[in-house]
Amino acid sequence: MISIALPKGRMGDKAYRLFESIGLECRAMAEGTRKLVLESEQSDVRYLLVKPADVAIYVERGAADIGIVGKDILLETEPSVYELLDLKMGACRFAVAAPNGFVDDTDSILRVATKYPNVSKRFYQRKNRDIEIIKLNGSIELAPLSGLSDVIVDIVETGTTLRENNLSVVEDVAPSSARLIANTAAYKFRQEQIDEMVYRLAEVIA
Ligand code: PRP
Repeated sequence: MISIALPKGRMGDKAYRLFESIGLECRAMAEGTRKLVLESEQSDVRYLLVKPADVAIYVERGAADIGIVGKDILLETEPSVYELLDLKMGACRFAVAAPNGFVDDTDSILRVATKYPNVSKRFYQRKNRDIEIIKLNGSIELAPLSGLSDVIVDIVETGTTLRENNLSVVEDVAPSSARLIANTAAYKFRQEQIDEMVYRLAEVIA
């Protein structure tokens, strides 16, 4: 049986529909259960419902064979997994954003609020800009509005959150979308099965 770590939420629902379309359906998934391990009746598949930020940990450690995770999380945590396929969903971008009209005072250290300290550090290192990271867990846009930070490095999807809070993108950092990842040992052990799955998923999203 192959274990698939799905992120709970919108991306996971969409990803599940992809797996369903290649024959890996699981009736319990549609029943709105609170179960976290769902076994498919028709196929040799078990779905694990995981917090999005934890999917790569389950896959890296082999608790799941494959998983669906945002490229943003892969860039931040750099797990030791194989990235097999861009699912072309959950598309968004990392960007630096600041209050409208922001001008960077390069004489002082830039205060950067973010959920993604590693991505932010790497981005500013390349630019040789001294920064101070303020690690937050959510509602990042509040940081520059309240004076906690000068800018944010965050995910922008539709841009609505920025717009409604009088913030705008200052610089793009990197694009992101959902990726199919595999545990390295599981991939060696089940290469044929996983490659077949990747091939069929690629056909569906093409
Ligand atoms: C994410 C991100 C932005 C928002 C961007 O937050 O951190 O706040 O979505 O989406 P938009 O461009 O479509 O407005 P999320 O909803 O994950 O919640 P969070 O504030 O708890 O991080």
